[in-house]
Amino acid sequence: MSEQLIEMQDNAGVVRLTINRPQALNALNSEVIAGLETVLVELEARDDLRAVLITGAGEKSFVAGADIAEMKDQTPEQARAFAGQALRTIKRLETLPVPVVALVNGFCLGGGCELALACDWAVASDNAVFGQPEVLLGVIPGFGGTQRLPRRVGPAMALDLVTTGRKIDAQEALSIGLVNRVMSQAELEDYVGELTRQLGGNGPQAVRGAKQAVHDGMDQDLDSALALETSLFALCFAGEEQQEGMSAFVEKRKPNF
Ligand code: CAA
Repeated sequence: MSEQLIEMQDNAGVVRLTINRPQALNALNSEVIAGLETVLVELEARDDLRAVLITGAGEKSFVAGADIAEMKDQTPEQARAFAGQALRTIKRLETLPVPVVALVNGFCLGGGCELALACDWAVASDNAVFGQPEVLLGVIPGFGGTQRLPRRVGPAMALDLVTTGRKIDAQEALSIGLVNRVMSQAELEDYVGELTRQLGGNGPQAVRGAKQAVHDGMDQDLDSALALETSLFALCFAGEEQQEGMSAFVEKRKPNF
């Protein structure tokens, strides 16, 4: 039942996930979050996975936040459990071994912005609206926003957004580094198609290694992180991909990964 709220399309290991609750602007209730977690557990186990795209159904909204109607009468214990379920699920998305791209088509608020912050890439339509408006509802961000937002845009801008609750447009989101690219809705699909073709066409183990080096290294001091990079770099030479990639260069042909 809950899986129907998450649509999955697979094109040769490039998986597109669509949060499918447009009547509530794809707000994250516990059923949507459970459906997303089920799909992510499936994806974690796939060796053929090359990239993941996540978006919201319809052209109006990526995700307009956690479900306010569901949260309204929660006790502190229920709120803790709800946030825990979401945090665990968002962490699964973040730690998928392949690049994860948020395709932000409209409202990206509260829990939606927190979901996008866990993605490696965010590509936004020019009508997208971002924000952490929780303080306007008498709460603080609970799906990771107070922690991932300052890590992405710096503490000053994060504090601006989480304490005012103000909404920003796609251009401002681009200027503060919250998203990688902004374009019209009409251009979005072609761009994302090209991006995933590019990600899917590169050496899959190298792409996974590059993501692992950046993610794991960010939590370490520089010397430890550089040692991690060296280990992962050396590991590339233990597989066939490096031979194929470098042979193809020398032989002036395209590599076949
Ligand atoms: N939760 C539940 N339902 C939501 C929702 C949300 N976050 N956002 C929108 N909806 C529902 C509306 O209730 C409405 O349902 P009905 O048709 O049954 O009334 C439907 O989606 C369409 O929404 P609107 O009629 O409000 O659409 P609009 O175009 O006039 O406004 C909007 C769009 C500005 C995004 C507005 O819906 C809005 O402000 N939504 C709430 C945004 C928000 O505050 N998000 C943060 C939530 S708290 C959070 O996420 C906490 C956390 O960190 C864990």
